[in-house]
Amino acid sequence: MEERIISSEVNESEVSFEQSLRPRNLQQYIGQDQVRKNLDIFIEAAKQREETLDHVLLYGPPGLGKTTLAMIIANEMGVNIRTTSGPAIERPGDLAAILTALEPGDVLFIDEIHRLPRSIEEVLYPAMEDFCLDIIIGKGPSARSIRLDLPPFTLVGATTRAGSLSAPLRDRFGVLCRLEYYNVEQLTNIVLRTAELFLTEIDFQSAAEIARRARGTPRIANRLLKRVRDFAQVKGDGGITLPLAKQALELLQVDRLGLDHIDHKLLKGIIDKFRGGPVGLDTIAATIGEEPETIEDVYEPYLLQIGFLQRTPRGRVVTAAVYHHFGMEVPAP
Ligand code: ADE
Repeated sequence: MEERIISSEVNESEVSFEQSLRPRNLQQYIGQDQVRKNLDIFIEAAKQREETLDHVLLYGPPGLGKTTLAMIIANEMGVNIRTTSGPAIERPGDLAAILTALEPGDVLFIDEIHRLPRSIEEVLYPAMEDFCLDIIIGKGPSARSIRLDLPPFTLVGATTRAGSLSAPLRDRFGVLCRLEYYNVEQLTNIVLRTAELFLTEIDFQSAAEIARRARGTPRIANRLLKRVRDFAQVKGDGGITLPLAKQALELLQVDRLGLDHIDHKLLKGIIDKFRGGPVGLDTIAATIGEEPETIEDVYEPYLLQIGFLQRTPRGRVVTAAVYHHFGMEVPAP
């Protein structure tokens, strides 16, 4: 997959950058108001009863703060967090090693939980429900099963695809939180907060300009801010003003709505080659040289959200808004 300034996926070099910006508690967390209010109550109630928090499933598009929320949950509960991911757990023994090392009340965070192998899911069920592990020792007729008790823990699972989770796994989460794209006001506040942490001067208008082009995603907002800050440092006196912000964003080839050349290629491809659709996902993928899963998980969600694409039973269709955005005439039906 091509590297994009507006990718919602985190890249390696950004990990410590993101960590330094993460809000540490619910009070500092901006946006996701419903999720925040619910978690606040569930955490408070669990603490009052001196119990572990119910298992929590966080789902929604990448870059909206699932990992941050998992860390906040652990912090607010006053417990440790162990972090792993679905694809990293290959054998039941891997999971057993992690679970038996937990301390009472700890949070186990499993990112991309929809990619957990089915054989591992089955080990997870009794662990989630009864805090115990059934382990089979040996092979063939001499194999026997032993039951290990685990400390009570909270599983926080994160996924971009709640629909790919098996029903029995989904049903074992007591708290389901769906993360939504952020609005421009919330993203503006996030940009202002991050600029303060950077000790970078920025006015409200410039923060709002960055926010408008961040595709509803804090990770993208912070990445754009970082690049605009570089530009302001080299071309100005370090402070971010609206003309500087606009010039920098122009240079990054991120348009007014946060679309980049890949979005343009995808949308224009559907218009030019398929008269605006409907066209099947696999055909689009072949046309622009991407995997269908990448289009579905990474490119499409924001285009659907802003009403530029529609999914119909016969395939994807671009809307009139796309023609307007490109300054093209909307074709007669
Ligand atoms: N930085 C990234 N995401 C954030 C959020 N939701 N609130 C505050 N700061 C953030």
